[in-house]
Amino acid sequence: MATNFRLSTPFKFLTLLLIILQCTTTTIVVVAQAPAPAPTGPTNITKILEKAGQFTTLIRLMKVTQLGDQINTQLNNSNQGMTVFAPTDNAFSSLKAGTLNSLSDQEKVSLLQFHVVPTYLTNAQLQTVSNPLRTQAGDTASNKFPLNVTTSGNQVNVSTGVVDTTVSNSIYTDGTLAVYQVDKVLLPMSLFGPSAPAPAPEPLKKKKSGADDVAPTTDAGSDNADASGAGSDLHGLYIGVVAFITMLYL
Ligand SMILES: *[C@@H]1O[C@H](CO)[C@@H](O)[C@H](O)[C@H]1NC(C)=O
Ligand SMILES: *[C@@H]1O[C@H](CO)[C@@H](O)[C@H](O)[C@H]1NC(C)=O
Ligand SMILES: *[C@@H]1O[C@H](CO)[C@@H](O)[C@H](O)[C@H]1NC(C)=O
Ligand SMILES: *[C@@H]1O[C@H](CO)[C@@H](O)[C@H](O)[C@H]1NC(C)=O
Repeated sequence: MATNFRLSTPFKFLTLLLIILQCTTTTIVVVAQAPAPAPTGPTNITKILEKAGQFTTLIRLMKVTQLGDQINTQLNNSNQGMTVFAPTDNAFSSLKAGTLNSLSDQEKVSLLQFHVVPTYLTNAQLQTVSNPLRTQAGDTASNKFPLNVTTSGNQVNVSTGVVDTTVSNSIYTDGTLAVYQVDKVLLPMSLFGPSAPAPAPEPLKKKKSGADDVAPTTDAGSDNADASGAGSDLHGLYIGVVAFITMLYL
């Protein structure tokens, strides 16, 4: 058998190169195919609100405005922490009819940002913050997005200049994120104060939430990668076998 091996050196080299090349390609494809590691449980505001119950409207708004994702990312990437005032479903349903629909997409974002303070505040800290408190909506000027916190005893009140409400419950605190239940939606002066501009009519275009858009795209992408990966594997194997057999018969 061994005497049958009469490969010319250049051909031997070419065959070897071919096999190595195929193996390398196959290896790369296999590596690319490896599934992304499962997320190891970063803080998820949606999950926290779901668990607390009675926050379905807030959850939906966080999804539509993508503020939920932003909060999660920010929590993961900053060490400032965050405080969220979470209005209940009752708070939303006791708004004047059409209040939410009268807001543009950008105004909805501002409304939600107004409920988020970009620092972690314990209940005790909440009682000693200086007013007005700066929220993610930004400008705290008296006709923009001022938020005041007042306390008497253990009772903490929040005032926007449009609504006054009481922090009725501490839903979640972990040293980084604090979520407090409020029984009214915090309506900012900028959008609901006396000098607020007449709300723009809601555009009729159908809007899909970003989160919904992203997930199917990613799935399709990995499906494609899998399909082409399997194809390359077979292709690589085939060439390898042909090269090996050729080598044997030379
Ligand atoms: C957060 O939790 C919600 C509901 O449990 C889930 O649909 C969403 O995918 C989670 N987000 C992340 C980034 O894990
Ligand atoms: C969280 O932060 C870590 C390290 O900064 C980063 O590797 C990871 O991708 C982040 N995860 C999310 C969901 O943002
Ligand atoms: C908080 O609000 C409640 C009712 O809205 C009110 O009775 C109380 O006086 C307020 N307390 C403070 C310290 O503003
Ligand atoms: C909020 O507090 C600031 C500073 O004490 C004050 O000037 C402002 O009038 C207060 N606004 C409301 C709506 O309570």
